[in-house]
Amino acid sequence: MQRLVVLFVIRFVSFVNMGISLPNCTILVRFYCPGAGLCVANLKGAETPSGYACKKAAKVTADDYMFTGLGLEGNTTNIIKAAVSPAFVAQFPGLNGLGMSAARLDLAVGGAIPMHTHPAATELLCVVHGHITAGFISPANSVYLKTLKRGDIMVFPPGLLHFQISSGKRPGLAIVSFNSPNPGLQILDFALFANDLPSGLVETTTFLDDAQVKKLKGVLGGTG
Ligand SMILES: *[C@@H]1O[C@H](CO)[C@@H](O)[C@H](O)[C@H]1NC(C)=O
Ligand SMILES: *[C@@H]1O[C@H](CO)[C@@H](O)[C@H](O)[C@H]1NC(C)=O
Repeated sequence: MQRLVVLFVIRFVSFVNMGISLPNCTILVRFYCPGAGLCVANLKGAETPSGYACKKAAKVTADDYMFTGLGLEGNTTNIIKAAVSPAFVAQFPGLNGLGMSAARLDLAVGGAIPMHTHPAATELLCVVHGHITAGFISPANSVYLKTLKRGDIMVFPPGLLHFQISSGKRPGLAIVSFNSPNPGLQILDFALFANDLPSGLVETTTFLDDAQVKKLKGVLGGTG
């Protein structure tokens, strides 16, 4: 048994060394090896696929590892009657390289977080109050739909289209977490109707009629 432990330690150390010598192993080292050190994001630099560069250790403080703001109600006076307040790495630099993040969802009565995906992350939603109907569409186009109440949690697998709507008579509040410091967010309606993708192409690729496409582009600020 003791031999096994020693072997494991030797392998572990060599794994770290490999990680340091190969550029593409940096992420592995950061995610799986506590010995590789912490890396609070230097938000003044650019974000790369493997996160932000590290803030100088001497400048890191406890504030980098806490985020205050999820206690504040989001402004739901908008077209979706809902607000997402993110605590992603760009708002919370201590998350850099740690593989997780959070957000607050406020849903007014009748509000909806429209159909969207987080390309890089699984989402876990926990209802704090209200009734929230949430669902996702599997790669086989099966629908998984539930109405959740206080204390219920639901998981949305990575990259899948999903939504959350307020289905109660009072506003809904949920805290969500992601297994990525920067889960990304792509809203389907915005992808189709909030840019300059020509209406004719939107119609051909969605089978919607011209009037419907023009109407939605008008509402969501699209052109073309
Ligand atoms: C690192 O990744 C890049 C981009 O995927 C690739 O071009 C490069 O060859 C990789 N380097 C090593 C050492 O694996
Ligand atoms: C909420 O957003 C609306 C629309 O942008 C704005 O008119 C209103 O002042 C905001 N309310 C608060 C409390 O910030």
